[in-house]
Amino acid sequence: MEKKTLIRPTGLPDSASVPVVTPIMPAVAYASATPDTLDDQYEGRVHGYTYSREGHPNAAVLAARIDAMEGARGGIATGSGMAAVTAALMGILSSGDHVVGGDQLYGRSLRLMNEDLPRLGIETSLADPTSVTAVKAALRPNTRMVLIEVVSNPTLRIADLDGIADLCNSRGILLAVDNTFTTPSAIRPFDHGADIVIHSVTKLMAGHSDVMLGYVVAKNPALNERLTTFAVTTGLTPSPFDCWLAERGLLTFDLRFEKAQANAEKLAGFLATRPEVKHVLYPTRPDHPDKARAQSLLQGVGCNMVSFVLNGGREQANAFTTGAAGLAFAPTLGDVGTTISHPASSSHRALSAENRAAIGITEGFFRISVGLEDSDALLAEFAKGLDAV
Ligand SMILES: Cc1ncc(COP(=O)(O)O)c(C=O)c1O
Repeated sequence: MEKKTLIRPTGLPDSASVPVVTPIMPAVAYASATPDTLDDQYEGRVHGYTYSREGHPNAAVLAARIDAMEGARGGIATGSGMAAVTAALMGILSSGDHVVGGDQLYGRSLRLMNEDLPRLGIETSLADPTSVTAVKAALRPNTRMVLIEVVSNPTLRIADLDGIADLCNSRGILLAVDNTFTTPSAIRPFDHGADIVIHSVTKLMAGHSDVMLGYVVAKNPALNERLTTFAVTTGLTPSPFDCWLAERGLLTFDLRFEKAQANAEKLAGFLATRPEVKHVLYPTRPDHPDKARAQSLLQGVGCNMVSFVLNGGREQANAFTTGAAGLAFAPTLGDVGTTISHPASSSHRALSAENRAAIGITEGFFRISVGLEDSDALLAEFAKGLDAV
């Protein structure tokens, strides 16, 4: 036997059978046979990986699965949901363009709109996406894109997606939809006239709070190419291990979504019966402000998020989370376990109390990401929290 071997590669043992799960491919670089082969790869005559920031099998497998869920082609996995938002905005817009964002976008998306894009010469405005009139009023001659979320965070208002899509399509404006909260189980934005779809895969899609990832896709192949090139150039692309974990999470997505939604519906009903609760927000409830749109757009799918307002202020809010100590008080969503978020002390803490109140976020406001627990055990834990108020 040779005492010394060359460093790499010795190849894998032969096997007539294949693994039943996607292997993890952590390689940063891929070896090609000859410079001619490399030419063929770069010039698209054959497919082959070169360097993992440019693409790797685990990212491709994950993106293809999400493509299938969204009815899309050629989407890319990114290192976080914000990387996907960044690619959509900065990869497509140029200095002098104008973009309109929903006024209740995810906090960091709002920050991009309010701070980073203007610094780069991209004009921004915010508008209420539940009103197509408000979005129309915000348009300018140089408006190139509108970015909305279908269900707003944390007030769970439903955007007028169809109205905004008609408006954008009639004016040649790109419509980008962040489908994180709703997921393809509730709505596929391409079916409603969107041009770009974005996900924080970190949330329901991966589903276990152990991976940070995103996804973005454009309907137009040339735009998609541009998104991909921008993500590769700026290093927004993800690690193989994260993609592998997310692919595993996606295998149970449908089951998780169904159970979380059933739990959410029950929880919303339960909270509404409690005297400590002033108000419950859940898209399929008869008292939801956008109930009709929730029904027509999401077709009765209420998703896994429930928000509610406690009677009282910070003291009652503290008592509730202490009483419901079996649930994680943590600012994320889409985990297998229920998580509780208090926007006034987390996502919306940068706003003044008056500005928070203007969008209905008081000290008693809680947003719940409902998980997969046994529903009786879940309601019992909420009852403990409310009893403590
Ligand atoms: C709607 C929405 N979009 C985007 C993001 C950003 O995703 P990530 O945290 O994976 O960067 C979040 C995060 O909470 C979100 O809720």
